[in-house]
Amino acid sequence: MNTLLLPRLKDKHAVLTGAAGGIGLAVTAAFLSHGAHCTVADRGEQPTPELATLMAAHPDTLQYVATDVTQLEEVDALIKAAQRRFGPITTLFNNAAVFDMAPLLDSDEAMYNKLFSVNVKGAFFVMQKVLAQMVDNQVKGSVINMASQAGRRGEALVSHYCASKAAIISYTQSAALAMAPQGIRVNGIAPGVIDTPMWQHVDALFARHENLPLGEKKKRVGEAVPMGYMGTPADICGAAVFLASNEAAYITAQTLNVDGGSVMS
Ligand SMILES: NC(=O)c1ccc[n+]([C@@H]2O[C@H](COP(=O)([O-])OP(=O)(O)OC[C@H]3O[C@@H](n4cnc5c(N)ncnc54)[C@H](O)[C@@H]3O)[C@@H](O)[C@H]2O)c1
Repeated sequence: MNTLLLPRLKDKHAVLTGAAGGIGLAVTAAFLSHGAHCTVADRGEQPTPELATLMAAHPDTLQYVATDVTQLEEVDALIKAAQRRFGPITTLFNNAAVFDMAPLLDSDEAMYNKLFSVNVKGAFFVMQKVLAQMVDNQVKGSVINMASQAGRRGEALVSHYCASKAAIISYTQSAALAMAPQGIRVNGIAPGVIDTPMWQHVDALFARHENLPLGEKKKRVGEAVPMGYMGTPADICGAAVFLASNEAAYITAQTLNVDGGSVMS
C-alpha cells in the first residue's frame, strides 16, 4: 500500500490560532484536506467570509471559536470548546501574531506592549495551556509555533517584532525539551516573506519609513529571495502538514526555515 496516499492527519484534532486569513487559513484548509478535525480561533466575533466559506464546506470537522489570545480566560474557553466538540487536542498551529515597526529610538511602550502581548505572551500561554491538556489526556501531540526569519536576525526598524519571533524560537526549544519525556513534539516554522494581509500592512509601513512608493518594498524583498519570488500561504502548508503528521515522529526542537533560501542552517 502506498502510505503517502493515506490522509496524513487522520485522527488528529488541531487548534489553529490566527486562522481567519493568511497563512492560518491556508494551513487550516490543508489540515482538513488531510483528514484532521480543526478548531480555529481568531479575534473577530464572527469568522471572516473566507473562513465562513471553508466552514460551509466542512460543517462536521471545522469549528470557529472567537478568541483574543492575549486574554488568558478566552484561551481557556477556546481549549474547553475545542475538547467539547472534537475531543482531546492532538495538534497546535500557534500562529496568531501582529506586526509593527518604528526606528528604534522612536518605538514606544505601546508598540512594545502590543507586539509582546500577542506574539510572545499570547503564543506562550496558548502553547502552555494546550501542552497541559495534552499531558492530562496522555496525548503524544505536536505543536508548531510560527516564528519568522525576523527571529534569526535583528533589523533596525523592526526591533520588537524581530525580538518577539526570536522568543518563539527559544520557547520552541525549551518546550520541546520539557515535553520530550511525554512524547510531545514542539517545532517551529520560520517563514521568509509570504504574501498575506500582514504583508500589505508591512509594505505600507516600509513605504512610510523608507519613503518608498506603495508596493516597492514587496517587490524588492521578493527579488532578494534566492528563489526570486515572495512565497504564498500555500508554500507553508507542506511543512505544517509534515510537522503535524506522524512522519515527523522523531523531529522536535527544530525551527524549519521555509523561505526560498533566504536563511541557511
Ligand atoms: N507573512 C509573512 O511574510 C510572514 C513571515 C514570517 C512569519 N510570519 C508569521 O506567520 C504567522 C501568520 O502571519 P500572516 O502573514 O498570515 O499574518 P496575518 O496578519 O494575515 O494573520 C495573522 C492572524 O492573526 C490574528 N490575530 C492577531 N492578533 C490576534 C489576537 N490577539 N488573538 C487572536 N488572533 C489574532 C489576525 O486577526 C490574523 O487573522 C504570524 O505568526 C506571522 O508573524 C509571517
